[in-house]
Amino acid sequence: MSTLENFIAGLPKAELHLHIEGTFEPELMFRIASRNGLKLKYNSVEELKAAYDFNNLQEFLDIYYSGAGVLIGEQDFYDLTWAYLLKIHSQHVGHTEIFFDPQTHTSRGIPFHTVISGIQRALEDGHEKLGITYRLIMSFLRHLSEEAAFQTLEEALPYQSWITAVGLDSSEKGNPPSRFERVFAKARAEGFLTVAHAGEEGPAEYVWEALKLLHVSRIDHGNRSLEDVRLTEELVRLKMPLTVCPLSNLKLKVVNDMTRHPLAEMLEKGMMVTVNSDDPAYFGGYMNENYLALAQALNLTQEQIAQLARNAFSSSFLNEKEKAEQIAKIDRYVGQQKG
Ligand code: ADE
Ligand code: ZN
Repeated sequence: MSTLENFIAGLPKAELHLHIEGTFEPELMFRIASRNGLKLKYNSVEELKAAYDFNNLQEFLDIYYSGAGVLIGEQDFYDLTWAYLLKIHSQHVGHTEIFFDPQTHTSRGIPFHTVISGIQRALEDGHEKLGITYRLIMSFLRHLSEEAAFQTLEEALPYQSWITAVGLDSSEKGNPPSRFERVFAKARAEGFLTVAHAGEEGPAEYVWEALKLLHVSRIDHGNRSLEDVRLTEELVRLKMPLTVCPLSNLKLKVVNDMTRHPLAEMLEKGMMVTVNSDDPAYFGGYMNENYLALAQALNLTQEQIAQLARNAFSSSFLNEKEKAEQIAKIDRYVGQQKG
């Protein structure tokens, strides 16, 4: 391992943008499909992996939803989440805030309870056995109706103690945050925090809407914010966290070349940027691989890399004491590396 790889591997990290359905590794997908008596469209792991060649977000989403279609029972959701937790444990990710997309499953007749209980049980085990702290974020699918989002919010209310925030994901173009203003208002009234994917493929205007209409605590992606100088200034002023996903951006052709990734300019402008893996089973890497690809392409210093990790803890939904403890761990680690 290179010095850089070593530094990143041992750095205490937090992940703030991760779709649990996007951690579904092909091998596990085939295993779960087989135990549920289901056949995938592909004959082998290799054939499935060969299909992971996307030109845009929608091409990815089509495959991602079809893969998630083999998750049926509570144990399936447990196994999916547990495999992810084991993986991030090996990468020194001590805190994770994960999205789940209930509508991907309830629309297939899987009860909301089945989905959330499997995920939550694994998260509790991950905390107890691996020491990983977590928050759960329920994401509405923006290609579906406002009414469907309201219904999902109703279904979530009995599980509110397990869900910290609501989010907005899926096909961005043509589905602005304004379509979900009312359902987000209701979610906030019920006590949920809010986040939203914006400015991944959609315009800077959608980032404004996420701020002004959905009152988000973080912007997921936010790449295209840089096209609007006033918006960029506002995001800096608010210290609004952006959960940037480098390998996702490359795989979905949001950026064509990692050396031109907008994170360099975001850092230069003083934006509160963080590094995340989005859908690691589909995009070629978990947290370490994302940090490494970015650090190599942008020639980041160890101090810049450590700052990205501090940003993630300070942008998380942990309380102030927990944030300070985690950031102190990073400072100690950086000190040891120098010493
Ligand atoms: N769902 C899973 N990954 C996503 C992404 N990168 N953008 C929008 N919706 C998603
Ligand atoms: Zn995402």
